Parts: sequence; C-alpha cells; structure tokens
Amino acid sequence: MAKPRVFVTHPLFEPAREILNEGCEAEYWAQPDRPPRPELMQRLKDKEGLICLLTERVSEELLRAAPKLRIAANVAVGFDNIDVVACTKRGVVATNTPGVLDETTADFAWTLMMAVARRLGEGEALARSGIWQGWDLDQLVGTDVWGKTLGIVGFGRIGRAMARRASGFQMKVIYTDAVRALVEVEKELKAEFREMNALLAESDFVSVHVPLLPETRGLFDAPKFYRMKPTAFLINTSRGPVVDEAALVAALEEKKIAGAGLDVYENEPFIHSGLKRANVVLAPHLASASLETRTKMACMAAQNVVALFRGQRPPNMLNPEVLEAS
Ligand code: DGY
Repeated sequence: MAKPRVFVTHPLFEPAREILNEGCEAEYWAQPDRPPRPELMQRLKDKEGLICLLTERVSEELLRAAPKLRIAANVAVGFDNIDVVACTKRGVVATNTPGVLDETTADFAWTLMMAVARRLGEGEALARSGIWQGWDLDQLVGTDVWGKTLGIVGFGRIGRAMARRASGFQMKVIYTDAVRALVEVEKELKAEFREMNALLAESDFVSVHVPLLPETRGLFDAPKFYRMKPTAFLINTSRGPVVDEAALVAALEEKKIAGAGLDVYENEPFIHSGLKRANVVLAPHLASASLETRTKMACMAAQNVVALFRGQRPPNMLNPEVLEAS
C-alpha cells in the first residue's frame, strides 16, 4: 500500500526523519530560505500531511490549496501561525510540541535576564573591540540578579521552570496568571500570587511567559510600563505581539524602565530600530534552540504525523474534536 505523502518545510534532524520515513513518504524542503508561499501551496496539492515551522502560516487559503491534507504538525509549542478553527472546519488535525522545550526556554529567559542586568552585550563588544584598557572600578557596572524580586507573568510550565531556577539565586518570586496555581504548587516553588499591577510595581525583573491569544496581544502597553520600577527589566521569550513595541521603545527612551531582554518581536524578523540600544539585549528567537530540545521538538512533530496515519490519536492534538467527529 502506498505510504501517505507528507511535505516537511525543513530537513529536520536525523532522528525525526527516521521516525517519519518509517510510516510516510516524506518530501523535505532543503533550501536555506523558508519555502515561498506559492511553492508551499503547490507542494501541498497532493499531500496528506504537513510538518511546518512557526514561520509558515497555516491559513484557510493554504488549506484550500491542500484538499487531501489530514494533519498540520507544527514544530513549536506556540501555534499562533495555525488557524486551528479553519483546520477543524476542514477536518485537518493540528498538533504542536508542548513540554519538551520548557526547561530550555526558561534557561534562555534566564540568559537574557543575566545578560541585560550584567551588561554582557556591552561587555562583549568592549572585549572584542581592541580598545579595552583593563579593569576599572566603575566599568560597565550593572545590577545584581541574586536576591531581587522576579515577577513571572504566565505561570504555566515555562513560568514555573523560571520560578524553580530563582531559588538558587535567593530571589523572591511573585507571579500572575488568569488562574491562580494550587497552594501546593505555590509552596513548592515558593511563589506568591499577585494581581498584575501589584506584580509590576514590585518586580525587579518581569519575565513574560503567556501564549499569544486575543487577550494577551498588546498586554504590555504604555500603562503597564508606567507601573514598573524605573530600575526594572522586562524579559520576553513568549511571543513578540504580547508587547506593544512602540510603547516599550517609548518607556526605554523615557527611562520608565531600566532595560529589556528580548527573544521575540512584534513583526519578526523585523526588529524596531528603537530597541537596538545598549540597555536592551536582543536575540533572534532562540529560546528553545538547543540541539537536544530542537531534536525532541522535531521528533514530536514526526510522531504526531505517524500516529495519525497509523490510525492512532496524535499525542499533541490542538483540535481533538476533528477525530471525535469522524
Ligand atoms: C515555540 O515553540 O513556540 C517557540 O517559540 C520556538 O521554539
């Protein structure tokens, strides 16, 4: 029997290819640039499966061009690139990769926090510049991280992984979320709940870990920055549009906050020129980018696809109702 045909918008990693090639006839996009939209639509004409990255929009238009498609498997936990409602309407299963990137993402949020507080970007530039004159008492003095207050916005898996790391730095941890965590979780992580405004007023570092939803788009706007301490830093490894970048730039210019560590942007790969300043550490959406984690993410996407074509339930379905209806 012919194997189901799957288009993969990236060569993936070998372990993921092995999983996929066993159950499917996979066609891999191997060019260094992301596949152009018309090419993607063309390739999907006869495919039953798609494995894509978050740079590909799985929209109604794309689904229309893929009449045989049964699954769109994202190699990411965030799925704001996928129109899940449109997928459901067309009976296409949508999946993501939750869980495997939590610790790696928290590591990276920590990296940004340390880097911006201790002025690592400026220090690295100076060390490489050839003009460094040697140690000086007040050279690039930054801000301590240890012993400060960490405010976590969004207390899901990644937010909690942040909290766990904070105890080693003797930090006070406060968090906010639409749903308050169980008392046992608060106790275990030594985290105290705050309403958003109280958290902003109290935190030395505000680290954002919410998904991009209609209600979180533009969550960090001018009034939020005005509530933060002028000595506080914003760290964002969630999604760019959660932060109103123009408002962030204004807050930085007006010294309403001390700086920011950013991995994600409102209109990637465009980065607002006002963010390219000394007190902002910028990374190109790298939070989950360790070889171990990215391999696990790719394997998970492959497993989701293979499961569906074996007649099983893909483990990470975003729209389980598609299978329930059939
Ligand atoms: C995700 O998975 O959503 C990240 O943004 C990329 O790893």
